Amino acid sequence: MTKRSGIGIVVLLIALMMSVGGAYAAEKNIAGSMRDGEGDPVAGKEKAEMCGGCHGAEGMSIDPTTFPHLAGQYAGYIFKQTLDFQLGNRNDDTMSAMAGMVTEAQDLKDISAYYASLKMMKGTPGDAKLAKKGEKVYLSGNKKLGDFAACIRCHGKQGKGLDKKNTLFPVIGGQTRDYLIKQLKDFKSGTRTNDPASMMAMVAQGMTDEEIIAVSEYLSGL
Ligand code: HEC
Ligand code: HEC
Repeated sequence: MTKRSGIGIVVLLIALMMSVGGAYAAEKNIAGSMRDGEGDPVAGKEKAEMCGGCHGAEGMSIDPTTFPHLAGQYAGYIFKQTLDFQLGNRNDDTMSAMAGMVTEAQDLKDISAYYASLKMMKGTPGDAKLAKKGEKVYLSGNKKLGDFAACIRCHGKQGKGLDKKNTLFPVIGGQTRDYLIKQLKDFKSGTRTNDPASMMAMVAQGMTDEEIIAVSEYLSGL
């Protein structure tokens, strides 16, 4: 067994114990937001070791059916999401427990800067016909919402984001298929509600499940 997979298994066990234990409260919550350049990616590499057990040493998920990629995601976005898990604004048994383990804001800034500095996540093309349907939704929206739902408006060309300084809109191109589907369904059902101004809720509520699957197929192939 390599050292890294050993660490991964230990981390998985800890997370499992916590989620089985039920309500887990962070010892100390972090507050605030992160601006560009506030994190140190070099210091972050070591601090991110406990995250790599699931999100991969290079930010590419060890199991794309369960864990999202973090490689090349905006630092400010990673910071916000981790904080949201810690504060209970976003919930996932495993990840909420992990978020509670980061108790210093600077550590989270460094970890976020480390993942942001990595080579951007890249997907694997799957069903080409389905992806083509998804691309249409991505570029021009759908019947129900028109171009209001055109993802490109907010997530940029090929889902690679708008601008490094605008961390409001995450990178979604190259993200894992199952994770994309889960998030869109969570926004649609109201299980995930941490999107500013309910932007994603409005989009997802106007999408059919078929459109959700097609657009996820498209994005996960980029
Ligand atoms: C035991 C597995 C595990 C570990 C270790 C782990 N995570 Fe996660 N993480 C998850 C899962 C599962 C999700 C998806 C949650 C969901 O479906 O909403 C996730 C999601 C995330 C997201 C949201 C990604 C996005 O695109 O919105 C961020 C950010 C994140 N994790 C950061 C971290 C950080 C930072 C660490 C280390 C402190 C860490 N994770 C450790 C399992 C893990
Ligand atoms: C009006 C702007 C806007 C439009 C249009 C939009 N999004 Fe989003 N999207 C957002 C914002 C803002 C977030 C970040 C939510 C947060 O901070 O938690 C987001 C987050 C997401 C996420 C979660 C990413 C992650 O890493 O967890 C997915 C998946 C997503 N959007 C997919 C889409 C798809 C697919 C479309 C088109 C059908 C779309 N979005 C259209 C604004 C938009």
